[in-house]
Amino acid sequence: MSRHTSYDVTDRITFGTLWSAMVRYARHQDTTLIQQHLAKSGIAKEGKRLVYFSYGRGALYTLFKEKFAGKEIIFPAFICPSIILAAVKAGAKPRFIDVSLNDFNLDAGLISNQDLEHAAALFVNHTFGVPAEMEAIQTKIKDSPIYLIEDIAQALFAKAKGQYLGAFGDTVLVSMYKQTPNLSGAILVSDLEIREPPRSDISLGGLIRLFWLTSGPHDFLLKALRQRRELPEEEPDQKWPAPRQPCRLALALFALLLPTLKESVACKQIIAKHYQKRAGESPYFIPQQVGAAEEPAWFNFSVRLRPEIVHIRDALLLALRRKGIFCDRLWHDAPVALGISKEHLTGEYPNAQLLAKSVINLPIKAAYQESDVDYLFDAIEQTIQGLI
Ligand SMILES: Cc1ncc(COP(=O)(O)O)c(C=O)c1O
Repeated sequence: MSRHTSYDVTDRITFGTLWSAMVRYARHQDTTLIQQHLAKSGIAKEGKRLVYFSYGRGALYTLFKEKFAGKEIIFPAFICPSIILAAVKAGAKPRFIDVSLNDFNLDAGLISNQDLEHAAALFVNHTFGVPAEMEAIQTKIKDSPIYLIEDIAQALFAKAKGQYLGAFGDTVLVSMYKQTPNLSGAILVSDLEIREPPRSDISLGGLIRLFWLTSGPHDFLLKALRQRRELPEEEPDQKWPAPRQPCRLALALFALLLPTLKESVACKQIIAKHYQKRAGESPYFIPQQVGAAEEPAWFNFSVRLRPEIVHIRDALLLALRRKGIFCDRLWHDAPVALGISKEHLTGEYPNAQLLAKSVINLPIKAAYQESDVDYLFDAIEQTIQGLI
């Protein structure tokens, strides 16, 4: 039985990939290639402009500040905290709507006419690469002038009803480093005039990240160090550096890896079927549900622990880490859990609260085989049995 060498939600690059990106680095055509590639998939439609940032939060902060300061924006209540911090720092007012426990996405049925009357924009993300119910959302907003912001940071090349995600939003956020290993980077694809941030060079932090990102003889040491560490706290950084463009090496890496992503997503869709089977049979988990006409990008494979055992979530992740299995717990630090933006959390968000306590993101790679999934599930279930 073959096994993969790494069970880690984080993706790494080889020295060969790094070398190829460095060779491209001098060529300067990467933004054109990226634009063409996204245009072919209907994500960068004609008339839209691509503006590059080093992080998604900087991109969204700029969008919110320039276009929605002082205005209300509807957000799903289970969301990356940096997005809400960007909105609040930009002077926009979040209006939260609870999510569905099935697909962990915004529950379109909970958006009221009053919400639509008050808000200037609706922010939709496709949680962990699983498409939100775009048809229901579009029906809901069809008679409203609300502006749709679609975040495909985890869902590039996922499809809903045969159409790539990113085709629905008026402005779309693409990440350059979440689904393809990279230093950093985000793109706003927009019909709005958004100011380009200043250029940036690779920083010392970037060089350290590059060392960590590139797989090589140092892997053994890095893994041993990480195994001993506590769970990373990913509370949003309250410092708010001015948005910059990504460095040119990040552009080169994205241009190099983007054409391979569709194939990688297709492979993950195959292995996800086995994941779904194992998760569906498990007495401990409830997997994230996928609609019949949806083809997720599988940013990771996400499950939630059954309510009676949510209290073991962090102990389970730590025990797995000690065994060299690196899972995640996105978004344990969602605004509903941390109380960020408390003055805007005016309703009840029981589903978002439950997800923040109970989600586990498992690694999924294009190269995984069924034996990898079986190994992971056996290790996880054994660890749970030792904890309950
Ligand atoms: C779906 C999604 N969109 C946007 C962001 C913000 O992107 P960045 O981490 O590049 O600032 C995050 C944060 O991780 C995210 O999960």
